[in-house]
Amino acid sequence: MTTINKCLFPVAGYGTRFLPATKAIPKEMFPILTKPLLQHGVEEALSAGIVNMAIVTGRGKRAIEDHFDNAFELEAQLKNTPNEHYLKDIRHIIEKATFSYVRQKKMLGLGDAISTGKTLIGNETFAVILPDDLCTNSGDSVLAQMTLLHKDYPDCCIVAVEEVPNEEVGKYGIVEIESIPNVTKSMQNLAFKVTNMIEKPTLKESPSNLAIIGRYILTPEIFEVLEKTKPDNNGEIQITDALMTLAKKGKVIAYKFQGRRFDCGSVKGFVVATNYFAKAEGLI
Ligand code: G1P
Repeated sequence: MTTINKCLFPVAGYGTRFLPATKAIPKEMFPILTKPLLQHGVEEALSAGIVNMAIVTGRGKRAIEDHFDNAFELEAQLKNTPNEHYLKDIRHIIEKATFSYVRQKKMLGLGDAISTGKTLIGNETFAVILPDDLCTNSGDSVLAQMTLLHKDYPDCCIVAVEEVPNEEVGKYGIVEIESIPNVTKSMQNLAFKVTNMIEKPTLKESPSNLAIIGRYILTPEIFEVLEKTKPDNNGEIQITDALMTLAKKGKVIAYKFQGRRFDCGSVKGFVVATNYFAKAEGLI
């Protein structure tokens, strides 16, 4: 079976870069125009045919659960009024998707967050969306593109990658790639075998300027590997280190996605995304 049924969203982070706004509001609830970042991610998962959302959350993030639940008072207030259309998108999501939650006990890195999600995922291949990385495309969404690729390589993990300027390699997991023998024609120049990967390298250490962005498809093998992955110098367990173990077995593919990504984990990227969507809507 190659269908992917679940998407994991690691959203336990403190959102330090957005303080003081993140003191009482989860950063994943910050809107790009009127839609929270996490809702953009959930819509992307739905567009890839995934209906089960597994959210790894933390203290102070209850607004997320309320957002993806029926709000009876609001429903009653707006029903059969000219404002009812404002609820259309979120109603659709609540009807289509299921949401389950687990709390990450300590902030021990993305690898630890993904391990925490194991209880929600079980023994199956799953997707991961980091909602900070907001992706948009006129055709298939980035995750939909990756689920298509997954059908050809069901035993492999897939990471979405894009080229970043040299001065930014230290912000990302960076991969080194080579071509896949007999790669499907439609995936030529898009899908590659990962031969090396380093989390946040210096420019000197960096094997390339191909950065992992927040979209992954992971086989359940990753959970066993994560258990054995040692924390880095900051005490964090990195998904990149765990994936490197699988890359050594030829089981990780890098995918150069079609579309545009905004780094909404930084104030600047957030503003750029807001402007982009505001222009697209004809608001500015
Ligand atoms: C995480 C990953 C990194 C990846 C990035 C994408 O880093 O550890 O490999 O390139 O997401 O956004 P973070 O942004 O959480 O520091």
